[in-house]
Amino acid sequence: KQLVFSGVQPTGNLHLGNYLGAIRKFVALQANNDCIYCVVDMHALTAQLVHEDMPGQIRSITAAFLAAGIDPEKHIVFNQSAVPQHAELAWIFNCVARIGWMNRMTQFKDKAGKDREQASLGLYAYPSLMAADILVYRATHVPVGDDQKQHLELTRDIAMKFNLDYMEHIRRSGYGIDITVGDEPVHAYFPMVEPLIEGPAPRVMSLRDGTKKMSKSDASDLSRINLLDDEENISKKIRKAKTDPDGLPSEIAGLAGRPEADNLVGIYAALADRSKADILSEFGGQQFSVFKPALVDLAVHVLSPITGEMRRLMADPGHIDAILRDGSNRARARAEVTMKQVRDIIGFIY
Ligand code: TYM
Repeated sequence: KQLVFSGVQPTGNLHLGNYLGAIRKFVALQANNDCIYCVVDMHALTAQLVHEDMPGQIRSITAAFLAAGIDPEKHIVFNQSAVPQHAELAWIFNCVARIGWMNRMTQFKDKAGKDREQASLGLYAYPSLMAADILVYRATHVPVGDDQKQHLELTRDIAMKFNLDYMEHIRRSGYGIDITVGDEPVHAYFPMVEPLIEGPAPRVMSLRDGTKKMSKSDASDLSRINLLDDEENISKKIRKAKTDPDGLPSEIAGLAGRPEADNLVGIYAALADRSKADILSEFGGQQFSVFKPALVDLAVHVLSPITGEMRRLMADPGHIDAILRDGSNRARARAEVTMKQVRDIIGFIY
């Protein structure tokens, strides 16, 4: 069995991009893997320091995981701050990662904005904590949306440098594993993580602008479908979604240069668990006036049971907290196995 890890930040509303790019894949991966899914509340501090919002946001992401079909008994669901080994390994990774690597992170550049001097050190070190999240379990597979690709490349760079810096001590410790890097066999401590990004909607775009990512922070609520939107809202947002005047093409090539059409077809395909080509063979030649109502029906059909279950779960915070507590206990035990070995490899006395 492969070990899968992924995380979602408890900031703002979850939207269709989070669901199709990440959570839906989390659910599917449960069948054949050992999975750990984390509400990354320490990452959320890079965006907000509002005490009042924090518990509700953490519970809402947890509820979304459960409502979407993640099984917290067979797998692990927990919140990051309850397992301090993440922060401990992140510090070590801060000392492995190079400033030059961090300076290339496009998400930092986007989020820091113009006045970079005023951005927090946490926002800058964000990818190092993310690497620690994954590697503190020595996870090998990470389902994410396309926007996290660069962070996962950095995770591999950090793992590789740690493996090289401590090569001799890893060998002597007996904790190493044999992996291949490129085609080379290497004795390593941390595995090289594989991002799982593929699928018809690795990057769901704004409904108002097909060149912009659907995001929690977009000022226009019409730009995204939130997981807590009701039927009426979903319908309104899809009907108002930007499109071009042409009908749907019969083949994928016909979507080139038509970002809004491409996005809606990708959303439909992901919701239906079918390929984009398959959707176009059904709707090719039709107008958006036909396609959009079909998309509304499908979106409501898939999302409304999740929305309903999320609301039901959120009405009982005690139940959610108990699930997080149980998940954190199990995650902590596993993370501590890694940290003991890492402390040995580094030469700390504990
Ligand atoms: P976050 O909380 O911004 O987003 C959660 C997941 O949703 C995906 N996503 C999208 N996918 C497709 N289209 C979109 N428009 C879209 N918007 C968001 C994200 O790619 C992500 O998979 N850094 C991560 C959280 C994190 C993490 C980790 C992930 C922390 N530690 C360790 C994996 C492993 C983040 O900010 O996700």
